[in-house]
Amino acid sequence: MNRDEIIQKLSFSDEKSLAGLYGQAYRVKTETVGRTVYFRGLIEMSNVCVKNCYYCGIRKDNAGVTRFTLDSGEIIASALWAYEAGYGSVVLQSGERASEEFIRSVELVLAEIKSKTEGKLAVTLSLGEQTEETYGRWLAAGAARYLLRIETSNPALYARLHPKDHSFDTRLNCLKTLRKLGYQTGTGVMTGLPFQTVEDLANDIIFFRDMDIDMIGMGPYIPHAQTPLAAGAAPAMRPHSLEMGLKMIAVARLVLPDINIAATTALQALSPAGRELGLKAGANVIMPNITDTKYRAYYQLYDGKPCLDENAGMCRDCLEQRIKSLGEEIAYFNPGTPLHYTARLARNPQ
Ligand code: 5AD
Ligand code: SF4
Ligand code: FES
Repeated sequence: MNRDEIIQKLSFSDEKSLAGLYGQAYRVKTETVGRTVYFRGLIEMSNVCVKNCYYCGIRKDNAGVTRFTLDSGEIIASALWAYEAGYGSVVLQSGERASEEFIRSVELVLAEIKSKTEGKLAVTLSLGEQTEETYGRWLAAGAARYLLRIETSNPALYARLHPKDHSFDTRLNCLKTLRKLGYQTGTGVMTGLPFQTVEDLANDIIFFRDMDIDMIGMGPYIPHAQTPLAAGAAPAMRPHSLEMGLKMIAVARLVLPDINIAATTALQALSPAGRELGLKAGANVIMPNITDTKYRAYYQLYDGKPCLDENAGMCRDCLEQRIKSLGEEIAYFNPGTPLHYTARLARNPQ
């Protein structure tokens, strides 16, 4: 698919064209990755962050946030819960930090999860920009996957969404380093950002292809009232944001048939059935929140985050029900390694 065709599909707005697009993406998904959903248990480790992204509710300068950091025992208990529940993988996510103390604590948690699960639980990290040395240490300690969203592939738009000391090039180089080191590498963007055009979104899809990435997590931008980007902005056009998020999933599936694509929580924040719609548009991964309920309200990147009062078991039961209703199967006790990663490893053994 070339750029013009991608733009054309992302511009669909009538019901018939949209249904055709989602249907086509669903067929490609069924033929390549199957009607199978992989669960990644999401552990929100800490909302402490050194950065100040203009869109994010837990940015450093938001003084209205109560900051928390889980201790290693809490993180490991959540990871073991996921392991015993048959989730193939957990995602350790937090705000960005670069102190040696932080790096070391992640290293120790990784080592302990590895030994307690005999290396059978795939661990994904989503801890922002780090040095090559740090990424290397975490890989050696047992992480296999890393998620680092590029947020937008347009450097000029990136510059409007971040303070001056946040660098698009640094982020891009981090992604390249992760690839080079041998991580299963995930990235993604926010859709429906202020100033973002459909051309930008088409370029994002081409960026994913050119970067040869293995996994995508992307979702609609949702304003958070206590952030500079939301201040004075018109209320989000919710049905429209949801639709663009779904179109991006569908086109990504058509362009990159063998990657893993997440139906993200932000979709569910816009519509109760948002994640099911994501699966129907071509996504094959869901990240059920397994963070202890008492911390969930403090980890709000955007307003209206769902499942604040639920616990890990409730989210699992809820999602099981929803996925069953689509006629899809949850792959328990399966790490769900992206087919794309396995194929590129076969091409270029490391
Ligand atoms: N709306 C939607 N997604 C957001 N993120 C941060 N703030 C928002 C928001 N207001 C996303 C970013 C980041 C990921 C962890 O959460 O893409 O990479
Ligand atoms: Fe920190 Fe990530 Fe939020 Fe930026 S998006 S402020 S890096 S938690
Ligand atoms: Fe948390 Fe539905 S996913 S309650």
